[in-house]
Amino acid sequence: MDLLNQIKENAKKHNKRIVLPESWEERTLRAADEVLAEGIAQIILIGEPSDILSKAEGFGLKNIGKAEIVNPKTDSRIDSYADLMVEIRKSKGLTKAEALKLLEDPLYLATLMIKAGDADGEVAGANNATGDVLRPAFQYVKTAPGISVVSGAFLMFLKDNQFGENGLMVFADCAVHPNPTAKELAEIAVATGRTTRAIAQIEPRIAMLSFSTKGSAKHEMVDKVVEATRLAKEMAPDLKIDGELQADAAIIPSIGKSKAPNSEIAGVANVLVFPTLESGNIAYKLVQRMAGAEAVGPVLQGMAAPINDLSRGCSVSDIVNLVAITANQAAK
Ligand code: ACO
Repeated sequence: MDLLNQIKENAKKHNKRIVLPESWEERTLRAADEVLAEGIAQIILIGEPSDILSKAEGFGLKNIGKAEIVNPKTDSRIDSYADLMVEIRKSKGLTKAEALKLLEDPLYLATLMIKAGDADGEVAGANNATGDVLRPAFQYVKTAPGISVVSGAFLMFLKDNQFGENGLMVFADCAVHPNPTAKELAEIAVATGRTTRAIAQIEPRIAMLSFSTKGSAKHEMVDKVVEATRLAKEMAPDLKIDGELQADAAIIPSIGKSKAPNSEIAGVANVLVFPTLESGNIAYKLVQRMAGAEAVGPVLQGMAAPINDLSRGCSVSDIVNLVAITANQAAK
């Protein structure tokens, strides 16, 4: 896990402002304390300052005083955030009163801080479902230019070094978009290639997965992956991408050679792009649980600013790691 230490060291150089809107939550406060103690990022918390500070004291935390604490009841920026929301959601008919009500929810306030340039990134989800974290982000921070779909990648640290890059692989989409079209799947592949370079710090070899290898099966679901592979290659000629490949043909050299002899990816893939969220989410959880892999993420990709979602079962160190990853994304 040297990579995670490297990611933390890199984050320290950039000193980004990361907002943790679930500021009443014990694991979040403990993680904030660790991030501040190590200097990984600046931390912004949301809530009544005296409540947060007395909670922190109760947990024996010594560094929370260094965080910026935004009090949603008194902060002078709330009114201008409401105006910004009304402007962004003009076509949806959002009123100022509705915007002010939404800003009572720290998940909305956090995304508006990012939109207004008062924070560089967000980590949330220790206490909220994925959809509740993502919806405000989709509505106000929106996707990066040229990208229409947000997706979630996992860095998979496998016990068996024969796979991927010395045991490191990247899986996507495992978290966000249930049933992508061919074009969306191509965007997910390209975004995952970029995340692999920026965060996993390895050169991606991307396999577009299917239940067919190079025409071995005929079905509209296979056609989607074939088309996505073609589009992804067109969108990013700098990335090594191939498909459609079955999982064994993607990761086992002898099977890759026999099923797809002309592929430069078959057998040696270090990035797996799944055809649907169903397959990606199931696969990463099976590899995590049955092969004992460490799954770091989801790292959300395609958003205009980095916002990352935690699993509700996350540990303090999961939160610290994701803050460091978010700070690295913000620095790019
Ligand atoms: N990328 C970019 N924008 C999106 C995306 C996407 N993938 N999905 C929805 N949006 C936008 C829509 O265009 C819409 O924008 P608008 O309001 O400006 O028109 C807005 O987000 C809301 O869209 P809805 O379709 O109404 O959003 P909904 O809330 O129904 O769904 C959500 C979005 C919550 C992300 C949904 O796709 C979802 O639930 N995905 C699965 C998440 C999940 O449960 N993952 C598994 C658990 S995570 C884990 O195990 C690690």
